[in-house]
Amino acid sequence: MALITSEEMFRKALEADYAIGAFNVNNMEIIQGIVEAAGEENAPLILQVSAGARKYAKAPYLRHLVEAAIEDTGVDVCLHLDHGEDFEICKQCVDDGFTSVMIDGSKHPYEENIALTKEVVEYAHAHGVVVEAELGRLAGIEDNINVDARSASFTDPDEAAEFVERTGVDSLAIAIGTSHGAYKFKGEPYLDFERLKEIHKLIPNTPLVLHGASTVLREFVDRCNEYGGEIPGAQGVPEEMIKEAVKHGVCKVNIDTDLRLAMTAEIRRVLVEQPEVFDPRKYLGPGRDAIKKMVQHKIRNVLNASNRR
Ligand code: G3H
Ligand code: 13P
Ligand code: ZN
Repeated sequence: MALITSEEMFRKALEADYAIGAFNVNNMEIIQGIVEAAGEENAPLILQVSAGARKYAKAPYLRHLVEAAIEDTGVDVCLHLDHGEDFEICKQCVDDGFTSVMIDGSKHPYEENIALTKEVVEYAHAHGVVVEAELGRLAGIEDNINVDARSASFTDPDEAAEFVERTGVDSLAIAIGTSHGAYKFKGEPYLDFERLKEIHKLIPNTPLVLHGASTVLREFVDRCNEYGGEIPGAQGVPEEMIKEAVKHGVCKVNIDTDLRLAMTAEIRRVLVEQPEVFDPRKYLGPGRDAIKKMVQHKIRNVLNASNRR
């Protein structure tokens, strides 16, 4: 039982058309719920930490909590930095013992993205750490742009092939229509599968990463709203679309929003139904159970990753 890189996980996943869930973590209950689910499903697992999560929990807490979860459950975990925006944060995470880092240079011009990614790859590889990079921009409906402008920011397949070749990156996050958060589409959900197939055809051995892959399941939005929440018009990527993407080279599926919704819906329910409760364990415990159920559902029914460890 250990912290491991995603190299072996991705190699196996690419061969057998399943995907690894990469779940965002911010506190103890979230980590426990996810790791317990992966343990029971015997599934490979990536836990990812954003800059915001590092700021919220403070870096040593999350690292030690993940180590505690590994010790408690015997589940191997790939510990990944999500959306590292510069060399410095990637270096810090490599030095802190992360086994994987993302350098997100997608907001920079192409050549700058390449130069930045190469710098991170060089440092990380010298320390046995793998690197994810991003090409293309994820745009949400909150960006308020039309469909044509939106697809102009999608990943260009030829650039993707050249980018991987020139940077030596281990996996590549692509933009094909997903976006972060709970408001991904105004009308019908749309992903550019033709573009995904083209990218996968050009770089068949590169694991592709789908950010913004939460489904925003109706049940959990409704429960949040029923118990006092206000999340109108939330919409995510239908699970059938995630399953389809997994058939075309997507090996890492990033999920944060669905965990947030599951935990919040349950905590809201407990607090409304049991107004006498003020012991945090009485609502954080059910919140943790809700995370576990959601992760089990994703592993079994969406990622096809049960018993792949
Ligand atoms: O990429 C976004 C993830 O959901 C992390 O979100 O930056 O609020 O921690 P965060
Ligand atoms: P969601 O907001 O769809 O869960 O995406 C999370 C993500 O991409 C983290 O990097
Ligand atoms: Zn992301």
